[in-house]
Amino acid sequence: MRQFLTVDDIGDVDSALTEARILKRNPHGFSYLGKNKTMILLFFNSSLRTRLSTQKAARNLGMEVIVLDVNKDSWKLESEYGVIMDGDKPEHLREAIPVIGSYCDIIGIRSFASLTDKEADYTEELINQFIEFSGVPIVSLESATRHPLQAFADLFTIEEYKRKSKPKVVLTWAPHPRALPQAVANSFVEWMKVSDVDLVVTHPEGYELDPSLMEGVKVEHDQKKAFENADFIYAKNWSSFTHYGQILSKDRSWTVDEEKMALTNEAYFMHCLPVRRNMVVSDGVIDSSRSIVIPEAANRVVSAQVVLKRMLEKL
Ligand code: CP
Repeated sequence: MRQFLTVDDIGDVDSALTEARILKRNPHGFSYLGKNKTMILLFFNSSLRTRLSTQKAARNLGMEVIVLDVNKDSWKLESEYGVIMDGDKPEHLREAIPVIGSYCDIIGIRSFASLTDKEADYTEELINQFIEFSGVPIVSLESATRHPLQAFADLFTIEEYKRKSKPKVVLTWAPHPRALPQAVANSFVEWMKVSDVDLVVTHPEGYELDPSLMEGVKVEHDQKKAFENADFIYAKNWSSFTHYGQILSKDRSWTVDEEKMALTNEAYFMHCLPVRRNMVVSDGVIDSSRSIVIPEAANRVVSAQVVLKRMLEKL
């Protein structure tokens, strides 16, 4: 595996889940693979889970890890080609990327959507430049439009907790004070579509996701109806795709609360975290025995380890 950006890069999902189970049971069983290998994690945006879980996964595999917070600890990087560099950015990505690649065997990158330029975001300009110029395998630690390590961990968590072969999984939009990317929702839909689940997406009008991703996916605008008989409720905010990056609603009647969870089939509550309590989800729901947000976050180590193991095996 030379890149991990979308569900297409994982191949057969059942094999990936089997590998995840093996690595969860025996996290240090493949530590020989990363001997004398280095991973660099680059953060263009804040992170708690991705930063720590990917470091842990890489170390479980025997790798050295270097973490760089690009905005805080490095030169400001110019990304535009052909620009006269007389501004405040002293280094161009065209040099920085191969330099970083020369220091390591795998690069992980956390970027963030601009939420102003849909075309630039959806063509994944930054991460594609790393693929082109770094010379090493690239792992998305969340790009402008996808969060594949999160979605892989989400799927693995659903597999661990499901009580029937084809559970009903509901992805629900929830209110948030800031405009957020569609990355988590996009990846969640992509990974659920290739899995044996009954997926329903619920959101207010205007929050339709990228139509090219939503082909064949059930959408129900009545959130309470969508929750009926659900086995998993996955809450997430995203900003508008059509009115790109705009907040169209902060309607707290969409907050996931105890009353709505009572409509479900004793569903488990999931969220990628960080989560805004009493905006996205009530204290009562996230603190209940049905909330699996902590084991879900713990599984981020497992998803990262499957991906890194496969990359190390191909180096
Ligand atoms: N869920 C997730 O990616 O969390 P961080 O932003 O803290 O990494």
